[in-house]
Amino acid sequence: MPETTPLVIDTDTAQDDCIALLAGLLDPRADLRAVTMVAGNVDFDHQVRNAHLTCNVAGRLGEVPIHLGCRRPMVRPWESAENVHGDGAGGLTMDLTGCEPEPEHAVDALIRLAAENPGELSIVAIGPLTNIATAVVKDPDFVRNVKTLYVMGGSNNARGNITAAAEFNFYVDPEAAKTVFAAGFEIVVVPWAPLTLDQAVFDQPKLDEIAALATPLADFFTKVCAATLEFDRSVGIDGTTHPDSLTAAVLLHPELVTRSARYHVDVETAGELTRGYAAMSWGVHGLEPNATVIEEIDAPAFYAYIKNLLATPTTPVREMA
Ligand code: BDR
Ligand code: CA
Repeated sequence: MPETTPLVIDTDTAQDDCIALLAGLLDPRADLRAVTMVAGNVDFDHQVRNAHLTCNVAGRLGEVPIHLGCRRPMVRPWESAENVHGDGAGGLTMDLTGCEPEPEHAVDALIRLAAENPGELSIVAIGPLTNIATAVVKDPDFVRNVKTLYVMGGSNNARGNITAAAEFNFYVDPEAAKTVFAAGFEIVVVPWAPLTLDQAVFDQPKLDEIAALATPLADFFTKVCAATLEFDRSVGIDGTTHPDSLTAAVLLHPELVTRSARYHVDVETAGELTRGYAAMSWGVHGLEPNATVIEEIDAPAFYAYIKNLLATPTTPVREMA
């Protein structure tokens, strides 16, 4: 049994968030202590349902606590990515009787789990950073208690996705993102561009290989990624995008990272055209680094990792249609 990594996944569960959860649920290196939900991609209750669907297809329904967190960004109204992801799970449903989320709020769960084993828990934050920023504000010890915060967000001096300047997670709650990068965490960033667009897109031959696995997980992957694939193609991306599962993967398998560098990262909250823009300064502007930004991964190894994960034979607990 390899050494395991204690983690929480903070997620706006839709499309690739589901695949990141599968990594947390099924990778033998992962010790997934909880799933915490934050407002982001799609309707909040759909996100919760998508998390239950994912636990179900992994054969682990009811085994990992799901905590509901902030239902809107800190300052601004919530904006969704339903135009990208549909309902986030390809229309899949199941009987949710008895699938109760935990009574404890996600922010309190994050604070408690970090405090229970100070310096040991890593957090994979793959939605807007509202829960993480709220935990920072609520508990002065939270930053110190977290081992490493893995953040999917921003672009590294490259194009955004929701606007020319901004990536979705930082755009939706820029005040939260700014708070988190100023808080003093040990942070690792997986950016949208160029990293995800260059190295974590699965084209049709790869999607065919995954479909041919014909496992419950591979069928789930194909359904859950279908709406996003259609959107991606409409904007010139030749396949499905996997920034969130990459973020979980690099925590569990740091050997996937072939190049990273220290940066000073800050997030624009005041710009007229640049709301949520991540200013990633690469060391020549006299700013103290506050994050490690991943610049390059072993892309074939990442694809092999996901394919292997989806080949895992699981028995879904409940029927999904
Ligand atoms: C990020 O936004 C969401 O739509 C995805 O889940 C990912 O976390 C990419 O910009
Ligand atoms: Ca996400």
